[in-house]
Amino acid sequence: MSAPVSMTVNGKKVTATVEPRTLLVQFLRDHLGLTGTHVGCDTSQCGACLVHVDGKSMKSCTLLVAQADGADILTIEGLAPNGELHPMQAAFREHHGLQCGFCTPGMVMSAVDLVKQNPAPTEHEIRDWLEGNICRCTGYHNIVKAVEAGAKAMGGSHAG
Ligand code: FES
Ligand code: FES
Repeated sequence: MSAPVSMTVNGKKVTATVEPRTLLVQFLRDHLGLTGTHVGCDTSQCGACLVHVDGKSMKSCTLLVAQADGADILTIEGLAPNGELHPMQAAFREHHGLQCGFCTPGMVMSAVDLVKQNPAPTEHEIRDWLEGNICRCTGYHNIVKAVEAGAKAMGGSHAG
């Protein structure tokens, strides 16, 4: 049985009638066409589906859309609403923090949340924080460099 849900996604109010068992990630991708949020595993392992829910990073494959009713959601598309890259996205590009790019939206969203909480994270803190985000391509080294640079660009000052 379908039920109405309503939330704010990337600053816009969204209302829809969906099956309550729909996952938030399915809602974002299939109903709203926000395909920047990826599905890598569907079992809470990879972090490719990570978005911000009420300002905190969450794996959107672990939430039912009904659980996000009334929430404020930010996806990777919302980081660059006018096509201008967010400083963390620019840092990933500049420091080669991606190869195939599949993990990148989740990595970037996670990194932005980290820097909001800890403006100047150390390498160790970055590696710890990104434990829930899997990358099959890069070996993580350049991702860590990118997050350090992104943190500085966002206003932090740790030298690494
Ligand atoms: Fe959600 Fe992998 S798709 S953690
Ligand atoms: Fe390919 Fe991370 S860049 S999975």
